[in-house]
This record gives sequence, structure tokens and C-alpha cells, in this order.
Amino acid sequence: MKKLSIYAGIILVISLLVRCEYKPIVEPEIPLPDTVSFSLDIEPIFVEQACVGCHKDNFKPVLTTGDAYESLLSDPAYVNTETPEISTIYTKPLPEGGHPQKYTNSQAELVLKWIQEGAKNN
Ligand code: HEC
Repeated sequence: MKKLSIYAGIILVISLLVRCEYKPIVEPEIPLPDTVSFSLDIEPIFVEQACVGCHKDNFKPVLTTGDAYESLLSDPAYVNTETPEISTIYTKPLPEGGHPQKYTNSQAELVLKWIQEGAKNN
């Protein structure tokens, strides 16, 4: 009997420590870097999200590593530094962009910040 109440006590303490809460599955917030780097932050997104599977060779914008910058800057519709939010490299892969491949929230934020910072080849 004594043993039983010890177990009950332990279970009570554990259940107080580990409270069962409903945790919605949300994408973890990844802090944005102070300065977004095209080669370190943006190009890897195009590889991670398999954009490069379609956007390669003559399929514009070419998004393969090493060729993406020149292709993206070749048309102000892709990258518009005056009005970054309308750049298609930002809008197309948004959830509402109607594109086969999407960005995660953090990836979209990175792309927008990169354009807002002047779309540098950094
Ligand atoms: C399955 C093939 C495929 C994949 C993967 C893909 N795209 Fe596309 N993309 C297309 C096609 C087809 C078009 C042209 C039709 C359209 O505008 O939706 C296009 C158009 C675009 C455009 C606009 C081009 C223009 O001339 O206006 C951008 C920007 C773009 N894609 C970016 C991306 C990015 C970034 C990714 C990865 C997140 C990606 N795409 C992944 C097929 C693909």
C-alpha cells in the first residue's frame, strides 16, 4: 500500500511537471540574418525546394547555383528592387502564388529581405 502511494506521488509530480498542452505544429521561427546573402541564404533555397529541377538550362528564370543571379536580374519582373513585394521570385512560390513549388514562411521572408536589401550578389 505504501509502495502504491509512492508511485501515485511520483506520477502526480511528473504530471505536474510535464503538463499536457496542445501544441500546434507550426514551422519554427528562424531568425532572419542581419544581412541576407545570395549565395549562402537564397541559392540554397532553390536547391532545397527543387526549383532547379525545372528552372535550368533555358527555362527562365534559371535558378541553378552560379547562374541564378544573372538570370534573376535580367528581368525586373523577377526582382523589382523598387517594389520588392511584387517581384515574381518572391510572389510565385508563396502559398497563394499558384506555383507547383512553394517556399516555407522563413524562405519567403529571406527572399523578400534579400530584395529589400538591394538584391546584391553577395
Ligand atoms: C515542376 C516544375 C517547376 C518547379 C519545381 C518550379 N517551377 Fe517555377 N515555373 C514553372 C513553370 C511551368 C512556370 C511558368 C508558368 C507560371 O508562371 O506559373 C514557372 C514560373 C516561375 C516564375 C515566373 C517566371 C515568369 O516569367 O514570370 C518564377 C519566378 C518561378 N517559377 C520561380 C520558381 C521557384 C523559386 C521555384 C522553387 C521554389 C520554382 N519556380 C519551382 C515550373 C516550375
